[in-house]
Amino acid sequence: MLGLCRAVVPLVEIEKGLQHWMKSILSATSSQELVNLKIGLIGKSGVITTAFKMLKTVSADEKKNLGEKLNKIKNKVEEAIAEQLGKLNNCCTLEKLENETLDITLPIGMNTFGGAHIISQSIKKIRNHYLSRGFLVLDGPEIETDFFNFDALNMPSHHPARQSHDTFYLKGFKETLLRTHTSCSQIRTMKEKGIPIRMISIGKTYRNDQLDATHSPMFHQVECLVADRAPITIGHLKNELRKFISFFFGVESIAIRFRPSFFPFVEPGVEVDCRYTKKDGKLIVTEKGDKWIELGGAGMVHPNVFKYSGITGQAYGFAFGLGIDRFVMLKNGITDIRNLFDTDQRWLRHYGT
Ligand code: PHE
Repeated sequence: MLGLCRAVVPLVEIEKGLQHWMKSILSATSSQELVNLKIGLIGKSGVITTAFKMLKTVSADEKKNLGEKLNKIKNKVEEAIAEQLGKLNNCCTLEKLENETLDITLPIGMNTFGGAHIISQSIKKIRNHYLSRGFLVLDGPEIETDFFNFDALNMPSHHPARQSHDTFYLKGFKETLLRTHTSCSQIRTMKEKGIPIRMISIGKTYRNDQLDATHSPMFHQVECLVADRAPITIGHLKNELRKFISFFFGVESIAIRFRPSFFPFVEPGVEVDCRYTKKDGKLIVTEKGDKWIELGGAGMVHPNVFKYSGITGQAYGFAFGLGIDRFVMLKNGITDIRNLFDTDQRWLRHYGT
C-alpha cells in the first residue's frame, strides 16, 4: 500500500516516498485509512521509524544530518495526518448536522425523565426518618473555615489528627477549606440554637483521597448530635445508633459493638461495627451474622466542643458520623464507589427511582 520495501530504507527512497505518502494522506476519506497510513509510516515498525532505528549504524556526522532530515519528514507526515483528520471530523459533523433532525414538538418519551440518584433517595429517607422523630434536620456550608472544621472541634493547628484529614484548602482564601466531615455542623448548630438539641446534618464532605474502588475525594456523611443539660450517657448513643442502623438496613434484630477509638472532639471515642453475613455476594446486616463491619465514628461530646460552641454550665451529649455512600454500597451490594459517580445511564436507571 505504501509502495515501499520495509527492510532497508535509505533516505533517498524515503524522500521520494514522501510525495506519494502526502498524496495518500490528503486524499484519505476515512479516519481508519489515516490510522493505517500512520501505522505504516510512523508506527512501531513503520517505514520512517525503521529508518530512525538505522541511524545507530551510521557515523556521528551522518547521524546528525540524516536525523534532522528524517525528523522533518516525520513532522510533515504527522502534521498532514492531523490536518486531514481534522478535515474529516469537520465533514462528519457537518454531514451529521445536515442529516439529523430534532423535532422539539414531539412528546417526551417516559423513559427520558430523570430519576433520583440512589444517594439522594437515601438522604431523603434518612431526613424523613429523623424529621418524624422530632430531630432538627439541617446541612451546613461545604466551604468551611479552619475554625469550624478543626479548631472548634478540639483540633488546634498543631494537632496531629489534622494530618489524617488530607484537606483541600481554597487557593487565595486564608484558612478556608472544603469541609472534611460534617462534624462542623455540631458547632454551628449549638452556637446558633444552644442546648438542648437533637439534630442531624447530612451533606457532602471532601478529602484529598485518590479515587479508587473504596475511596472518593467527595463523599456524603450524616452527623447526629444530641446534647442536653440533663445527663446523656453512652447508652443513649448506642440506642440511637441501633435505631438508625436497624432503620436504614430494614432489619429489626441487629448487633452492634463499640471499639475504643480516638476523635479529638469526643471523649470517649469509639468506632461502631455491626454484625453481618454474606449471601450471594450481598451483605446482609443481621444479629446472627458471623462477621463485623465498621460503620463510622461516635462518642460523647468533649467539654471543649461545648466551650467553643459557647455553651457554659452543665452539658452532656453524644455525636456520631457515618458515611452514607458506604451504607448505600453495603445495602445494595455495590462494590465500587466510583459507580456512584460515573453517570452511567444504565446503572443510574437500575438504581434510580
Ligand atoms: N467526624 C468523624 C469522621 O469523619 C466521625 C465522627 C463524628 C466521630 C462524630 C465521632 C463523633 O471521621
